[in-house]
Amino acid sequence: MTSPAIRIEGLTKSFKDVHVLRGIDLTVEPGTVVALLGSNGAGKTTLVRILSTLVKADAGTATVHGFDVAGSPAEVRESISLTGQFAAVDEVLSGRENLVLVARLRHLPHPAEIADGLLDRFGLTEAGRRRAGTYSGGMRRRLDIAMSLIGDPPVIFLDEPTTGLDPQARIEVWETIRGLAASGTTVLLTTQYLDEAEQLADRIAILHEGTIIQNGTLAELKRLLPPARVEYVEKQPSLEDVFLALVGQEGDRS
Ligand SMILES: Nc1ncnc2c1ncn2[C@@H]1O[C@H](COP(=O)(O)OP(=O)(O)OP(=O)(O)O)[C@@H](O)[C@H]1O
Ligand SMILES: [Mg+2]
Repeated sequence: MTSPAIRIEGLTKSFKDVHVLRGIDLTVEPGTVVALLGSNGAGKTTLVRILSTLVKADAGTATVHGFDVAGSPAEVRESISLTGQFAAVDEVLSGRENLVLVARLRHLPHPAEIADGLLDRFGLTEAGRRRAGTYSGGMRRRLDIAMSLIGDPPVIFLDEPTTGLDPQARIEVWETIRGLAASGTTVLLTTQYLDEAEQLADRIAILHEGTIIQNGTLAELKRLLPPARVEYVEKQPSLEDVFLALVGQEGDRS
């Protein structure tokens, strides 16, 4: 039996009289991708910030990689990385310098090799020596995720990894996240996009009015609705299909 990567029990958090989290229970098994789905203001970022020790809960417990977020915050921080809703990339530095900096801060040997390896893995080798301020949104987000992987944390939190990205860049980030999951990393991501959760998540947890109102696989969640009726419709391409067909899906975007 393996212990869960994340275990949350009865977690609550209020800001003054706004009761954001009203008793969150959630268990995430190691090596799985869980999508936390919720509308604006549902409390997704708040929950991620509690799990990454940036904010203290009012009540309840949470452990990450076996460490209690309140009792062992230093150990939790060593076990995780957090890619925030707003990128942590330093725009004045080049992509490569950003990566080297993080590797140095984490006291890892051979920071230059680590940086070059990640640039290669994320398709940023050519852009690596350019100021990150000149990167497109997708490139910046990929760099941000690359930075969060330095030191191989077993658990990673991605807060709205694709918000604001064009469809092509979203797909690139999705590929990145799938790669992480394939390598055994536990991923908790927040999103407002149902298709993102469908594409990436082993399990989907829906946060609504302060609690997790549903938690299951996509198939389990779909079973909550009445069985599908058979209808005959002409399949029209979606705007996203048209956009991707016109713009093309591959190619070096640096
Ligand atoms: N430091 C804070 N002080 C006061 N209120 C806060 C603070 N942080 C969050 N809140 C409130 O908590 C609620 C949940 O915010 P949170 O950022 O967790 O939502 P979210 O689900 O991440 O939303 P979004 O999808 O917009 O990112 C909101 O009403 C927000 O205004
Ligand atoms: Mg948020």
